[in-house]
Amino acid sequence: MKESEKFEIGGEYNYSIENISSNILENKNSLFEYIGINESNTILFNACSSAIKYLIENIIPTTINRILLPSYLCSCITEVIEACNIEFEFYRVNQSLELDIYDLGNKLKGSGDCIFFINYFGFSQPQYIIEYLNKIKETNLLIEDCTHSIFNKDACSRYIGHYQVASLRKWTGIPDGGILIDKNNDLSRYKLNKGYDEFFVSRFIGHLMKDKYLKGGQIDKNIFLSLFNNAEEAYDNEMNIFKISNISYKLLNSINYKKLMSKRNQNYKFLVENLNEIEYIEVIFKDIKEYTCPIGLPVIVKNINRDKFRKYLSYNGVYCPIHWIPDSYTNTNFEDTSILSKKILTIPCDQRYSEIDMKYIIKTIKEYY
Ligand SMILES: Cc1ncc(COP(=O)(O)O)c(C=O)c1O
Repeated sequence: MKESEKFEIGGEYNYSIENISSNILENKNSLFEYIGINESNTILFNACSSAIKYLIENIIPTTINRILLPSYLCSCITEVIEACNIEFEFYRVNQSLELDIYDLGNKLKGSGDCIFFINYFGFSQPQYIIEYLNKIKETNLLIEDCTHSIFNKDACSRYIGHYQVASLRKWTGIPDGGILIDKNNDLSRYKLNKGYDEFFVSRFIGHLMKDKYLKGGQIDKNIFLSLFNNAEEAYDNEMNIFKISNISYKLLNSINYKKLMSKRNQNYKFLVENLNEIEYIEVIFKDIKEYTCPIGLPVIVKNINRDKFRKYLSYNGVYCPIHWIPDSYTNTNFEDTSILSKKILTIPCDQRYSEIDMKYIIKTIKEYY
C-alpha cells in the first residue's frame, strides 16, 4: 500500500473508470451460469425492492391477498410491502434466526396468504423448517429473499420458494441491481422501462469518488458518503421500478463468481477459527458449507456495549454494518427481534480483503480490552 492510500475495511465498494472499461469489454456472461438459471427465468431490476413490488403488483396480484413477513428483516422490505397496499402480518423469527413455524402456522388463514422468508446471511434454515415450507408450498405461495445467498455456488438448485428475489448491489458495488427468479416459468414476456434516476447517478458517482479517495486523491470523504445516503433516500422516496442499468448488467456479467465465493468463504473460515476464544464475540453460524458465499460474518456482541464496540472498530478503520435495525412494527411486537438487533454486528470478509486484513480485524477486536 502506498503512503498516500487510505486504509479501511468494509463500507461501500469503489471502482475506477479503468475497471469499468475493461470489465465492460470483457463481458463473459457469467452471472446466470454461475447461479444455475436461464436468463429467461429472471427479470433484472434496479433494486430488490423493485423486484418485490413488481412481483406483487404485476405477476401475482390475483393469487394472493395477504403477506406474512418474518419479524427479523430489513425495514426496506416492510416499506415496499406497505407501498403495495396489501395486508400484511409478521411471524416470529427466534434469536438463532430460525423461523418459528408454530407462530407461522397459527397466523396462516388460507391459501390467499403468501409467505415471505429470508435466507439469512447465506445459510439455510434447519431441515424440519424446510420440510414444513415445502409442505405449505402446496397450498400457499412462497417468496424467498435470497439477497444473502444469491452468490452461493449453484444457488438456484437449493431454492424452495415459488419466486426468489435478491438485491445484487451489495456484493461488488455495481450502481444498481435486483433480480426476480421463477425457476419454473419463463418471465421474458414482462418488459420493463429503462431509466436512470438520482438513485443510480448518486451511487455511480459515489463509487468513482470513493475509488479516488482510497487511492490518495484529494476527495472529501463526507461528499461520497452523503451521495450514498442521498441515493438510498432518493430510492425510498421515488421507488422507481426500472430495468437494471446497462452498466451494472455488464459489470455483473464480467465477475469471476467462483473466485469471489472462495475468497469470501476462506476469509469467513479464518475469522471463525480466530474469533473462537474471544469471550465477548459469539459467531452465529459456525459451520460454513463449501458452496456458501457469505455476505459477511454475523456475530453477537455479548456483555459489552455493541454500539461503543462498533464505534471503536470504525475508529480503527473496520466498518461493520448492522443487519438490521428493526422498524416500529417488529421492535415493539417481537422481543427476540429487538434483543438480537441490539447485539448483532456483521464483520466484513469480502473479496476485497486478504488474510492480512482478516488478521488486522482479529487483532483490533482482541485489543478492545
Ligand atoms: C434481505 C434484503 N432484502 C431486500 C433488500 C432490499 O434491497 P434493495 O436495496 O436492492 O432494494 C435488502 C436491503 O438491504 C435486504 O437486506
